[in-house]
Amino acid sequence: MEKKTAVVTGATGAIGKAIARQLAALDFHVVVVCRNEMKGRNAVQDIVKTTGNPDVEYALIDLSRKAPIEEFANGWKKPLHVLVNNAGATPRRREETPEGIEMQFATNVLGYFRMIRSFEEHLRNSAPARVVNVASYWAGGLDMDDLEFRIRRYNNDAAYRQSKQADRMLTVAFSNRLKDHGITVNACHPGDVNSVLSNNLGFGGHETPDQGAANPVWVATSHELEGVTGKYFEHLRESGCHFGQDMQAVDRLFEICEGY
Ligand SMILES: NC(=O)c1ccc[n+]([C@@H]2O[C@H](COP(=O)([O-])OP(=O)(O)OC[C@H]3O[C@@H](n4cnc5c(N)ncnc54)[C@H](OP(=O)(O)O)[C@@H]3O)[C@@H](O)[C@H]2O)c1
Repeated sequence: MEKKTAVVTGATGAIGKAIARQLAALDFHVVVVCRNEMKGRNAVQDIVKTTGNPDVEYALIDLSRKAPIEEFANGWKKPLHVLVNNAGATPRRREETPEGIEMQFATNVLGYFRMIRSFEEHLRNSAPARVVNVASYWAGGLDMDDLEFRIRRYNNDAAYRQSKQADRMLTVAFSNRLKDHGITVNACHPGDVNSVLSNNLGFGGHETPDQGAANPVWVATSHELEGVTGKYFEHLRESGCHFGQDMQAVDRLFEICEGY
């Protein structure tokens, strides 16, 4: 039987690499999406060596920018069964992309949005397919009128919490739009893991990357969740998410993201 294909973004980081490794161990063909060639090459070598699965490769994409994502998707020739949106950034000072978009919003929110939007057709052609948005329980404070911290003073924790709320809201928006096409879209909290991202926010982390990857991989692969969509999971369990309940706000956020 042909291997299933999974794309994992930010798979040179702590949790993403563990997700990619666990999917490779489950015999997926895994594409590690990253922005640093050396890290990408090292991650692939390491995953191939430790899993014995030779079908692991990397793709260099800056996920904070629209053009490279669209180019990546346009050139995609394989099926796509699982897309794990995991890449995230938490710069301590406000940064912007070359297009002038605040970096956390560009990477953590638009990066997820654009990956799903751009790969929609590939996912549909490979259905049943799953999208997993790695979000967080550390979420909230979203201001739809100041998504890029142009009015509020930038604070990386506030920008991060807002971005993870947005990921959870967009999960609901996409699940509604894609459910009739055999694509499920769910969000999850991974685990508390020591990483560049968590250190920037002033956190450490008491879980290993493999523990942090367990929940996203479960959401991406478990038979139990076949057909389940629009939900949020923590510790291998569904957890209520009030961010996805205000459909007016969910749809407004979707439209705003679509406009970028
Ligand atoms: N760690 C935790 O305790 C925790 C808790 C809750 C949720 N999460 C979520 O888990 C996910 C992974 O976090 P982590 O802790 O594993 O962080 P991490 O180790 O810092 O990894 C982040 C990854 O994202 C990549 N990345 C950042 N900006 C990018 C861009 N513009 N284009 C392409 N790749 C980019 C990084 O690449 P570089 O290495 O090149 O920078 C890195 O591979 C995030 O979505 C985060 O919100 C983490």
